[in-house]
Formats: sequence, C-alpha cells, structure tokens
Amino acid sequence: MTELKAAVAEIAEQFAVSQEKLQQGVDLFIELADRGLASDEDVHGLPMIPTYVNTIPTGSERGIYLAADLGGTNFRVCSVTLAGDHTFKLVQSKNPIPVDLMSGSGEELFSYLASKVASFVTEHHEAKETDEKSKFKLGFTFSFPVTQSSLNSGTLLRWTKGFDIPDLVGKDIVSVFQGQLDKQNVPVDVVALANDTVGTLLSRAYSSGAVAGGKQGDTLIGAIFGTGTNGAYPEDIDNIKKLPADVVKSLKAKGVTQMVVNTEWGSFDNKLQVLPNSKYDVAVDALTSNKGYHMFEKRVSGMFLGEILRQILIDFHQKGLILRQYPTFDKLPHRLRTPWELDSEVLSLMEIDDSSSLKATELTLKQNLRLPTTEEERLAIQDLTRAISKRAAYLAAIPLAGILVKTGAFEKGVHKEIDVGVDGSVVEFYPGFRAMMRDALALTQIGDKGERRLHINIAKDGSGVGAALCALDGA
Ligand code: BGC
Repeated sequence: MTELKAAVAEIAEQFAVSQEKLQQGVDLFIELADRGLASDEDVHGLPMIPTYVNTIPTGSERGIYLAADLGGTNFRVCSVTLAGDHTFKLVQSKNPIPVDLMSGSGEELFSYLASKVASFVTEHHEAKETDEKSKFKLGFTFSFPVTQSSLNSGTLLRWTKGFDIPDLVGKDIVSVFQGQLDKQNVPVDVVALANDTVGTLLSRAYSSGAVAGGKQGDTLIGAIFGTGTNGAYPEDIDNIKKLPADVVKSLKAKGVTQMVVNTEWGSFDNKLQVLPNSKYDVAVDALTSNKGYHMFEKRVSGMFLGEILRQILIDFHQKGLILRQYPTFDKLPHRLRTPWELDSEVLSLMEIDDSSSLKATELTLKQNLRLPTTEEERLAIQDLTRAISKRAAYLAAIPLAGILVKTGAFEKGVHKEIDVGVDGSVVEFYPGFRAMMRDALALTQIGDKGERRLHINIAKDGSGVGAALCALDGA
C-alpha cells in the first residue's frame, strides 16, 4: 500500500461510527434532552427551546398568509394560500443575503429584510389601508437559536452558520423586524416567530394526508439537514419542566397538553463526550464565530463537510502525501488555501463519480478549486469524501433515534408508523445521505423494525408553509 493509501485508510477508520458509538450517542441525547427540558442552567447543554406552538395542523387549515424566512444564504418572502385540503399555493421572492450584511449591524440587516418585504407586498398584493386591523399577518421563520416566551417574541441566543452580528444577540428579533417594517411603512404585522424545523414539522403535518394512500403515520419530527442541522418535535407539557408554572396552568386550562420543542440539536454534545473529534474538527471549530457551540452541526451539516475535507487536504499536502507539485502551502491554488471555499456540492459530485479515472472529479476540482490532480490523488479524495459524508449521515441518525426512543413513539399504538418531515440541501440532494442515515438508524436502539416503520419525507417549502401555519395560530 502506498503512503497515501495508508493515510486515507487511517482517516476512514478514524471517521467510522460504530454501532456502539451510535447507541451511546442516543443514550446521551436522551439524557441531555431531559436536562435541557428541565432547565437552561447549562449554557453548553442542549437548548430544548419551548416554541409556544401547541397545535399540529390537520390539513384542513385555510387562509392566505405572508411568510418570511431567514436562515442561510437567502431571504425568502412568500405568500401562502392554504386550501384546507392538505394542499397549498405559494408565490415567493428569493433574495440572496449580501455577505457584508451577515456580519454588519442589526439595523442594516433588518432594514434590508424589511425593504424586501415591502417590494413583495407592493408587487403581489393590492394596496391596503395601514390601520392595524387590515395589516397583513406575517409568520417569520428565523433559523437560529432563539429563546421564546410567546409565539410572537424571541431573544437571539447566538448566531450560527457564519452569521455574526453581535448587536442583535440578546434582542427580541420580532421587535427589531417590526421596528424596521414600521419605519418603512410596510403594512405588515409579524404575528409569529418560528424556527425552520418547527415550520418543517407543521408543513409536513399539513401536507402529509395528501399523498396517495393517505397518512403514513403521525408526523413526529421536523428536521433540517442543510447548511445547518436541527430538529423539532411535540413534547408533553408535563415533561417541559422549565416552563413557568403560570404558563403551564393557563395552557392546561385551555386543554393544551403538548408544545413543540425546538431542540437545537446542532448543539448536541458540545462537551464532546461521544462525538468524534479529529484534529480536522478542531481546526474547523477554530474558524467559526460560535467556537465550542454547535459541535454536532459542525460534523454533520452542509456548511462544514467541504471545510473538513479542505483541512485534510492541506494536512496531507504538508505531509508530502499529495499535490507534490506545489512545494509549499503558499504555492497551493488560492481557493484551496481559503477557508469555506470548498462547497459540499463539490463533495456530492465526487461522492458518486464512477467515470473512468474519475474524469468528472478531475473536472470538478479544476473548475471549483483550480486544482489539477492525478488519478491516485482523485481516488484518495473520493475516499476521504465518502468517509466524511458517511460519518455525517451516521451521526445524523442519533438525534432522530433519540427523539423516537425518548417519546416512546413506536409504542403508542398497534403497528405504529412514524412520519418525519425533512428539508435542507444535504438531505435532499447529497447522494446516499438518506440511505446511509437509514442504515445507521437500524443500528440504533430503534433497530431494523423501527427503521422500517419510519417514513422520512421531504417537506418542500417547509419554512414558508410552516410560518404561514404559525401565523394562523398567532393571528
Ligand atoms: C440553527 C437552527 C436551525 C438550523 C437549520 C442551526 O444552525 O441553530 O436554529 O434550525 O441551523 O437551519
């Protein structure tokens, strides 16, 4: 075996997630979830944020609502018409977030967002009187960790996914947004704030009965595997021990028994009790603005997979194992030297390349990184890519199985089947991600039987439709 092959094999072994690790991960997830539901004392713990969303849609909801969605590279504004028969119509505008606004001031970001809502309303809706009653109701999907004390308010805990606007941390995001909308005289009332996972859960529950053959089990989890990763599920109010007593009392008086919890599982195991921690993971964390947090996300989601590979390639180059035509780091192509330049989309192309001599990979690396490679190097890079994505997909099974075991979902009925709504570029487009995740799910405590009874379905436009469904609750 060549030195390069041996080094690749070593990484593949180091990145493999065994059945034992998966099961330890599930046990730890349940323990940390219980702790997070009991109190917010441990700032590095699992946030388990109560969302004040208490009803899961049935599919019969109707109405026209506005939704806005900020969570990654785009800001979307949409108008959603719920037809009341599990179907909906959606008109949307998609606006890329200028990179400088991701680390500027809160005012700059939200005045930009408000201006996009203004143009959408002007384009798609007839002019409205601006008295309070006739304003459009808007559900706002804001996909960052936010603690909520009501459906239409929430304090930003910290930024993730490359955003870094310190003056908004600790602020109520709804007031900031509403303030800018009012300043620009946009006739819109922000009536609900929701995480994208909550939106995904609600939208999947709304749509699920529309598939031929009807509902495939209750929708229990909304999950995102995209730029970031996270999940939400309905939890019994009695188990959310940190909810204030007066809130519990008033909910119970209304007959409410459950509340959707935004787990923020990106922050699962920040203390690295079970998660693998290679030197490449350490290097990636050091490049982020939320160091020490979202350690699960940094091993699983799309924003990080490419950077992990880039870190390995730089290390291999330094050891003289690859790209020997470049004598020093400084001589490497600029893009390979630059953090975050290697996109997970490139990995997805290399993952399934079966062309002779990996010609497709050769082209991809040339186009995206300006990097010429030998066949031996490409084979090595493909194996590394597969080790990284397999580790991500295997780890992704942990919180899903954790929630299924914790809620005893499969035991709540005869032949119980469970539906999970998912969204995000990785789960939707990364080749084999869902299949590998299912392989890993079968190895967890839910076993083959649980895995077979689990339906994992894409909730298209989950954030938009979900925010509209939240707006309906808040209206
Ligand atoms: C955020 C979550 C969000 C997830 C997926 C994470 O970085 O903390 O709030 O749901 O990304 O968008």
